[in-house]
Formats: sequence, structure tokens, C-alpha cells
Amino acid sequence: MIKHASLCLAIAAGLVSASAIAAEDPIVTRKAIMSSVGAAAGAGGGMLKGEIPFDPKIAALSLRTMRAAAYSVGDYFPAGSETGMETTASPKIWEDMAGFNEKLAKFRADADAAAESKPETVEAFKTAFGSVAENCKGCHEAYRVKKN
Ligand code: HEC
Repeated sequence: MIKHASLCLAIAAGLVSASAIAAEDPIVTRKAIMSSVGAAAGAGGGMLKGEIPFDPKIAALSLRTMRAAAYSVGDYFPAGSETGMETTASPKIWEDMAGFNEKLAKFRADADAAAESKPETVEAFKTAFGSVAENCKGCHEAYRVKKN
């Protein structure tokens, strides 16, 4: 009985530490943040293509999700996280951190302005969304590697 209980405790402790490591892994975290940006861009793009009816609440969700990511993702590229977990981050990030930070700063500024513009019409959303979406390609081309 005692033996069983302590085995359970050991398993529980193992699970706790394993999930703590996964949640704290900077690669896992930055991928999760970027994948939320992908979903936010997908919803915004869907409204611009007319696949989803325009709704100011979805516009706000899209722009504010991208803004939150622009503010947070930069914290998850520490030295030592260059490889592993099928990262598509380019080694150039760590060779040219200043350049990468410049891209992040522009992404933040554009996402901030877009979110604050609080678009109420599809035309206004198109302008706001477009200024944020310009940043994706620019940064990915310079600081992301394509892996199949
Ligand atoms: C300042 C640079 C930068 C900007 C701006 C940026 N990204 Fe990324 N993105 C990255 C990097 C670096 C990765 C690779 C992360 C990794 O695999 O560790 C990435 C990965 C991704 C991924 C893959 C996530 C996954 O699950 O592996 C998606 C989707 C994505 N970005 C979408 C976008 C979209 C959409 C935008 C524009 C609204 C955008 N990104 C803007 C740097 C950027």
C-alpha cells in the first residue's frame, strides 16, 4: 500500500516536472505564439476575402492577437534555443539580434497602431490589417528557414 502510494507520488512528480519543462521551453512557447498569429491572420484574411462576414469584434480579435504576439514573442529567442523541436527560426536571428529586434519593433508599432485604430468597416480593417501583414513576409524571409 505504502509502496503503491509512493510510486504514484513519483509518477505525479515526474508528470509535473515534464509539463513544466514543456511549457517553459522557449521554442514551444514562440511556436505557440506564432501559431496564434497565423490563426489571427487567417481569420482577418478570411474576412477580407469575403469568406467570413466582416464583424468588428473579429477584426479586433485578429488585430489584438497579433499585437499581443508582437509584444511577447521576442522574449522567447534566448541563446541556446537555436536548434531543436523542429524550429524554423533561422540561425541569422542569433547572428544579427539587432536586425531581428528592429523587425520586432516595427511589427509591434504597426500592430499597436492597427489595434488602436479599432476598425468598424471592412475598408478600415483592410488598411489596418494590411499594415500588420506586411511584417510577416519581411521577417520570415530574413529570419526564418523553410523546412519541409
Ligand atoms: C519579427 C519576426 C517575425 C514576424 C514579424 C512574424 N513572424 Fe512568424 N515566425 C517568426 C519566426 C522566427 C518563426 C519560427 C519560430 C520557430 O520555429 O522557432 C515564425 C513562425 C511562424 C509560424 C509557424 C508557427 C509554428 O507552429 O511553428 C506561423 C504560422 C507564423 N510565423 C505566422 C506569422 C504571421 C501570419 C505573421 C504576420 C502577421 C508573422 N508570423 C510575423 C518570425 C516572425
